[in-house]
Amino acid sequence: STGVARAADGSVTVGGVGVRTLASQHGTPAYVLDEADLRARARGYRRAFETAFAEIGAGIDVYYAGKAFLSVAVARWVHEEGLRVDTATGGELAVALRAGIPGAHLGLHGNNKSDAEIARALDAGVGRIIVDSLVEVDRVADAVAARGGAPAPVMVRVTTGVHAGGHEYISTAHEDQKFGLSIASPDGDSPAMQGLLKVLARPELRLLGIHSHIGSQILDPSGFEVAARAVLTLRARLAERTGVQVEEVDLGGGYGIAYLPGEVALDPDRIAKDIAGSVEASNAELGTALPRFSIEPGRAIVGPAGLTLYTVGTVKPVRLDDGRTRTYVSVDGGMSDNLRPALYGARYHAEVVGRRASMQTVLARVVGKHCESGDIVVHEVQLPADIRAGDLLAVAATGAYGRSMASNYNHVPRPPVVGVAKGTSRVLVRRETEDDLLALDLG
Ligand code: LLP
Repeated sequence: STGVARAADGSVTVGGVGVRTLASQHGTPAYVLDEADLRARARGYRRAFETAFAEIGAGIDVYYAGKAFLSVAVARWVHEEGLRVDTATGGELAVALRAGIPGAHLGLHGNNKSDAEIARALDAGVGRIIVDSLVEVDRVADAVAARGGAPAPVMVRVTTGVHAGGHEYISTAHEDQKFGLSIASPDGDSPAMQGLLKVLARPELRLLGIHSHIGSQILDPSGFEVAARAVLTLRARLAERTGVQVEEVDLGGGYGIAYLPGEVALDPDRIAKDIAGSVEASNAELGTALPRFSIEPGRAIVGPAGLTLYTVGTVKPVRLDDGRTRTYVSVDGGMSDNLRPALYGARYHAEVVGRRASMQTVLARVVGKHCESGDIVVHEVQLPADIRAGDLLAVAATGAYGRSMASNYNHVPRPPVVGVAKGTSRVLVRRETEDDLLALDLG
């Protein structure tokens, strides 16, 4: 995964920088992001999909989903690797614009965009606004009408009924949830078809395409193929009806990664081939010209490139009902810097780094410093029996949805994001201070 190397004396480096050095220079907790690893993943996804889709004669763009983690540096890195950037709010859009990404390479998502967010996207000349409801079609069209100028390029987000992903809260294409317009039509036109027709009816909008995102942390790739077929079918129906063959189809993000030792991530080369093969077959059956495609991976680009460094504060053995002992290891962060275990029951792996530790292990649970018992960082892990206060602990694969979902629970300042590359480290996002937090409190 990351450029993590462990020497015989137990010392560990990331991106060529020792973890002890990182901890003493930047403090803990800290998120560490391996630039070379992140860039390689961005490149890997782009190459895999470009190659597989070129073989079927279709073009494809890869958008990095900034919700997984976005900072100015990361936006620049993915831009330099030839990716575009997908944003979900005005805030994410602001970061991408500050990084100097051309508006044409940006997309704006969101199921409830504010007028200010829509205006900002239009000002920036974003390459696409993905509309999520019939109400929003009019809202975007009215905004364009009010300001004048060229029609805004719009994609309609549809839901295909495919269940996929790691957890109910992150699976998005089944019927009973808030995103998109359903392609199901028990009577009359489906909401998705209504959305497409509505966009075509507004001269202020240019119907660029159809968008489908089926979920996140997907490890069974068949859902992508089923969803792609459904979207291409909808595209063919629209063409029969109106003569308009939309230019682009976005298949969303959701490519699963490995969080634990022994887990296997989706392989971009394989999945790109599978998806390209299946869209080619569906398209041949439908007799339509191939559209251009796009995808929006977030987690798969940044997740494995990041780890979190913590310092152990207390170690407490607790006797379990079944007679076993669980060693509770408290670290200096917790659910404020990684909400995923508490929110989704997500599993992580931790290791003691920076010293040679005992080969003997104990059953441990790594917990944070927050005032609730669900404040768990790593549910279950074997840690060295001699684990003690002051030890450095690294938790792997925290690059995605860690810092981006961090909070100030218990008035804890959020940790910095430290980039490592070629043996040096640099603060990409600085640590919050108590003064930052107090400055918001007007008394
Ligand atoms: N495109 C759209 C429209 C999305 O909604 C998402 C994720 C992505 C792309 C990127 O998905 P990815 O490739 O990163 O799986 N906080 C949750 C994940 C929420 C994902 C929301 N949408 C977690 O920590 O697992």
